[in-house]
Amino acid sequence: MYKIAVAGTGYVGLVAGVCFAEVGHKVICVDIDEKKVDLMKSGIVPFYEPGLEDLMIKNYAAGRIDFTTDYMQAYREADTIFIGVGTPEREDGSANLSYIANVARQIAESIIKDCLIVVKSTVPVGTNDKVEQFIKDFLVNDVRVEVASNPEFLAQGSAVNDTLNAERIIIGTESNWAEQVLKSIYKPYNIPIISVSRRSAEMIKYASNNFLALKISFINDIANLCELVNADIQEVTLGMSFDSRIGNKFLNAGIGYGGSCFPKDTKALDYLAKQFGYELKTVKATMDVNKEQQTKLFKKASQRLITFNNIKVAILGLTFKPGTDDLRESASLVNVPLLLEHGANIFAFDPIGAKNFAKIYPEGKNRNGTIAYVENVEQALIGASICFIFTEWDEVKEIPPEKFKKLMQTPIVYDGRNIYKIDNMSEVGVEYHSIGRNKSNTRLAKESEYYKFKTYLS
Ligand code: UDX
Repeated sequence: MYKIAVAGTGYVGLVAGVCFAEVGHKVICVDIDEKKVDLMKSGIVPFYEPGLEDLMIKNYAAGRIDFTTDYMQAYREADTIFIGVGTPEREDGSANLSYIANVARQIAESIIKDCLIVVKSTVPVGTNDKVEQFIKDFLVNDVRVEVASNPEFLAQGSAVNDTLNAERIIIGTESNWAEQVLKSIYKPYNIPIISVSRRSAEMIKYASNNFLALKISFINDIANLCELVNADIQEVTLGMSFDSRIGNKFLNAGIGYGGSCFPKDTKALDYLAKQFGYELKTVKATMDVNKEQQTKLFKKASQRLITFNNIKVAILGLTFKPGTDDLRESASLVNVPLLLEHGANIFAFDPIGAKNFAKIYPEGKNRNGTIAYVENVEQALIGASICFIFTEWDEVKEIPPEKFKKLMQTPIVYDGRNIYKIDNMSEVGVEYHSIGRNKSNTRLAKESEYYKFKTYLS
């Protein structure tokens, strides 16, 4: 078992650290934020991630994981140091690598024995060559260092499971030594390990995220066309997905992708390509489609209503997806300011994300409208003239169609997540708009063909 230090206790770092401890390694997580370290020592995960807290508490009690701000001590004792700090997006779309550089400098000044440094953060291709050189330049002691790339593929809301039961582990190394160390660290995971060069590993991360984003934008593009030609996107994706070359994942049309990865990684790859004088046309199209998709329902609703001024608007879901309190690049962050600008009185419900949203848009008057946060879907819907669904939380998926009819002043629903059967909504008198499904296909609805297979699509 290895002595592992993990730099950074965000999603990537903390989940990696807890999972390493879970399989038996001795882990020390390093963060510069003292408050965060105290929180974790008292058994609290500083962000919302189902299942992570219990696992962290269990491994802390077993003495397999600890937390510290004392990086020098932590790095000095470690056999391997994983870097999982953020690489936020700069205004021009490039990745800001200053957190990585800070950690690299601290490592160079601390280590006193041979050490493998593994970068988990998403970094542009070629960065880890530079990180290795940077550490070597600043090394205080005469020790062997090598930097490996080990990108992370976890999704928020299922991070622990994604890590412990990943489909593959990518390791990018430049020596047998580094490859063997990483292989033995990951041996207890019992997951296929793909061993490639460091630059290929860096590219695999960007290519994977960009491909998934492309899939979503492609299906949204087709959904928009389905509306125009009276086809049904859910039937179309069902038919497509039985071709194993296409697959059945990431084909859900909706209000566009958000989150901390897809928007940032598409921009970063686009930026990287441009630096080499190359234009990634598919990536550009992916970003363009997503940008338009996020305001699609607002634009449609603007044509439907004369005005949003003084209109009660229910918003169901604020986060970029369920299972997280993360709002980054969510559709709500684009639509709420538009609605407020147009004078709407918003009543927003989100089971986990409302608190974070209120930090950006505090309750009360804002621009020409108002915003309030409510405890349940009923309070959002009551008396509302229009409802937008931005996130498919269980609380939202479970609303019976009659409730929209009963509680709303005018039951008009714009669903960005295609939650409801069109017939179920129209039968109870709800005016229902969704994505790529402007006609009800009664034959399939009757035979329940699609719904029989719905679980197949995910
Ligand atoms: C993603 C990748 O899945 C993960 O492998 C990577 O490491 C980080 O980025 P995450 O951002 O947590 O993870 O969420 P994900 O579940 O992939 O969803 C991203 C966005 O795409 C969400 O806004 C989601 O609603 C949207 N989405 C996803 C769709 O609109 N349709 C789909 O079919 C799938």
